[in-house]
Amino acid sequence: MAINYPVAFVLFLALAFLFISFWPVFAGANWQPTSMNRVRSMLKMANANKDDYVYDLGFGDGRIIFMAIEEFHAKAGGVEIEPIKFIAAKIYAKWKGLEPDLKLGSAYGADFSRATIVTIFLSSFAHKLLKKKLAGLKKGTRIVTYYWKFPDWKPVKVDKKLELYLYEVGKL
Ligand SMILES: C[S@@+](CC[C@H](N)C(=O)[O-])C[C@H]1O[C@@H](n2cnc3c(N)ncnc32)[C@H](O)[C@@H]1O
Repeated sequence: MAINYPVAFVLFLALAFLFISFWPVFAGANWQPTSMNRVRSMLKMANANKDDYVYDLGFGDGRIIFMAIEEFHAKAGGVEIEPIKFIAAKIYAKWKGLEPDLKLGSAYGADFSRATIVTIFLSSFAHKLLKKKLAGLKKGTRIVTYYWKFPDWKPVKVDKKLELYLYEVGKL
């Protein structure tokens, strides 16, 4: 049987795109952007300010990072596993003249030891894998999660309506 190369190429691209888009589900969580209102509340809850370094684990389109820089005047960065989201956030940062530290890779291997605030909207499975590393951050580092909480840690603040949980290293 003769291979139709153009059709095979298009099929390959479509499959690659599907794979790239869906595999984050198994790595931590699928892309589901946090509403801007909730992002603002997460950063306010953590009392983000110009002295902070905000780090988003799985930054999606980078909205938490960009708001931290633009509205809260913090330094910010993050890691994202999905290359298309990563490239889009890089382009947006360039267009806006911002310089966040954006990394392509997995949250589990990322170095976020500089962070004073870590934001997380990942599954409970991802929480389990990140817990030890988070607990080892500098004392006073704030960790804000949306929707998923750490079952054995005591949050210092909870916003029940927005399902936000604030933890502080040293008071876990
Ligand atoms: C629920 S979305 C949250 C996006 C963004 N933080 C927000 O609040 O709008 C989860 C994001 O994490 C990414 N992700 C999933 N597993 C990851 C992992 N192990 N390391 C880094 N990023 C991951 C997904 O590709 C997706 O963009």
